[in-house]
Amino acid sequence: MSDDQKIMDKIISLSKQRGFIFQSSEIYGGLKSAYDYGPLGVELKRNIMNEWWRSMVHEREEVVGLDASIIMHPKVWEASGHLAGFSDPLVDCLISKERFRADKAPVPAIGDLINVSCNDKGQAKAYKEEIEIKFDVSLHRNGKVLEGLKVIEKNKFGFFQKDNDTPTKIFDFPGYVSPTFGSPFLSDEKQFNLMFRSQIGAVDALGDIANFVNDNKDLDKAAMKKGIEKVVKDSAVYLRPETAQAMFVQFLNCQQTMSMKIPFGIAQMGKSFRNEITTEHYIFRSCEFEQMEMEFFVEPGTQKKWLDYWRDKRLEWWKSFANYPDNFIYRKHEKDELAHYADACYDIEYKYPWGFDELEGVASRTDYDLKKHAEYSGAKLSYFDQQKEDPESGKMGWRYTPYVIEPAAGATRGLLVYLIDAYHEESVKDAKGNDTTRVVMKFHPKLAPFKVAILPLIKKDGLPEIARKIVADFMKAGINAKYDEQHAIGKRYRRHDEVGTPYCLTIDNDTKEDNCVTIRDRDTMQQERIAIEQAVDIIKKKLSQSNI
Ligand code: GAP
Repeated sequence: MSDDQKIMDKIISLSKQRGFIFQSSEIYGGLKSAYDYGPLGVELKRNIMNEWWRSMVHEREEVVGLDASIIMHPKVWEASGHLAGFSDPLVDCLISKERFRADKAPVPAIGDLINVSCNDKGQAKAYKEEIEIKFDVSLHRNGKVLEGLKVIEKNKFGFFQKDNDTPTKIFDFPGYVSPTFGSPFLSDEKQFNLMFRSQIGAVDALGDIANFVNDNKDLDKAAMKKGIEKVVKDSAVYLRPETAQAMFVQFLNCQQTMSMKIPFGIAQMGKSFRNEITTEHYIFRSCEFEQMEMEFFVEPGTQKKWLDYWRDKRLEWWKSFANYPDNFIYRKHEKDELAHYADACYDIEYKYPWGFDELEGVASRTDYDLKKHAEYSGAKLSYFDQQKEDPESGKMGWRYTPYVIEPAAGATRGLLVYLIDAYHEESVKDAKGNDTTRVVMKFHPKLAPFKVAILPLIKKDGLPEIARKIVADFMKAGINAKYDEQHAIGKRYRRHDEVGTPYCLTIDNDTKEDNCVTIRDRDTMQQERIAIEQAVDIIKKKLSQSNI
C-alpha cells in the first residue's frame, strides 16, 4: 500500500472513530458513495459553510443570499442544457466488466507497454484464457499481470511475443485503458444522464408505463424506450445537480427586491445530487454533496477582470484556513476543457494524497444561462443601466443581458481538504518517557468542531460543578465548549487532539483555592494557569488572533 493510501486510510479511520463521517445506512451494509456527517462532522461542515457565507454574503454589500427549492420546474433543466447534455461518457471493460468514465481514464503514451493487472493469479489465468480465445492471440502471464501488449499508434495497440519487436496482431482501442485493470479491451462509449429523476404529484408512473407497454407490444426496443420516456416525461422532476440554476431563475426577483446594481452577486449553498458512476476517494466525489456557489452578474466586456478577481479571492480564502497554503493552486482550463457555456475558467486545485485535483471551479459563464432562461420562460432577464451609453445606439441608457462569473465550490469536498490538511502525527514521550505517536487534527480554530474542552480532573469534590459553570459562561459568549469528564486526563487530552479542539481547560483541586484553571494549547501542548474569570476573554482573544 502506498504512503498516500495509508494516509487516506488513517484519515478515514479517524473520521469514523471520532464521529466525523459514517457510511450511510451502515447497519444495512451501507449505501455506496453516500455518507453521513456525524456529531463532529456536522460541526466542521457547518463551520466551513458559515465562514463561506460570512465572507461571500455578510461581508459584501454587493452580494445577497438565496435558499431555493431542490426540486425546480423541469423546464429549468431543459433550458440549462442539463437534460440533454449533462451526461458522462461511460465505457465497460469487455473482460472484467469494470464500468468507468472515459474522460477520467488513464491514457498510455505511444510506445508504452499495457500491462493488465489482475487482483490475483487465479483471475489473471481466467482473463488470459478469455482474451486469448476472444482475440485469437497468446499473452504472457507474470504472476497476476498479463504482458505482451504495447501502444503502437494513437489509437492502436499490438500483441507482441516475448523478445520479438513485430506485433502478431494489431487492434484499435479508444486511446485509454480501464482505471483498475489497465485493460484496453473496451466497449463503445455510452452517454449516461447524471440527474436523479423522480415523479411529482399523484401519478402512478409504473401503472402508466405498464399500460403503454401493454398497448404497444409490437414496438422494437428503441421505439419502446422512446415511448416510455414520453409517458414519464410529463410528471418528471429532478433533484438539482447544482445550486447555480436557481440564482439565474431568481435573478430578477433578487435584483428588483433588493435594488441591486451591477456588478452584484447572488449566493447559495446547499445539497446537490449527481448519479455519479465513478465515485472515488472517500467523500471527494459522491452522489449527494453540498455546494457553495455564487453567480456574480457583470457588465459585458468586464468579465475577464472579474474572473481574475474572484479566482484570487477564492484561492486566498481556502489558503487562509490551511496549515499548508502552498498545497492550493489555480489552473487555467485549456480551450478543449471549457464547458459549452464558458469563455474562460480556472480550477482551484488542492494537493490531495493522489495528486492535484479540483476543489472549486471559477468560471466565466458569459450571458449563456440568463439568455437560455429568458428564451425558455419568456421572462425579460436583462438589466437596464440609466447611467451608461448604449454602445449600439450611442444614446444614454443601456439594456443588456449581464455576463456571469461563477465561483462554484464543494463544501463536502472542502471538508475533505481540511481533514487532510489538519492530519498530523508527532512523536512524543509518554508519562514513562517512552516514544509514542500523537495524532492531532490541527484545524483552524474557526473550523474546529469544539473551540474549548472543559475538563474536571476528577468527577467529585465539586470540580464537575465548577466545570459546568465555566461551560455555561462559554455558551453565553457564543463559544462552543465541550464538557468532558470521561477517562484519565492524559487520555482526554489525546482525544481532544484527535478531534482538533484548540484549547483544553482543566479544573483541579487547587481551583477551589485559587479560582484558576490550567489552559493547554493543542499545537504546542504548553500549559499555563489562568484565572477563571478571565477564561472566556482569553479564549476569545486567542480565537480572534487566529483571524484571517
Ligand atoms: N455550477 C457549476 C458547477 O456545479 P462543478 O465543477 O460541476 O460546477 C462545482 O461543481 C464544485 O462542486 C466542484 O469543484 C466540487 O468541489 C463540487 N462537486 C461537484 N461534483 C461533486 C461530487 N459528485 N461530489 C462532491 N463534490 C462535488
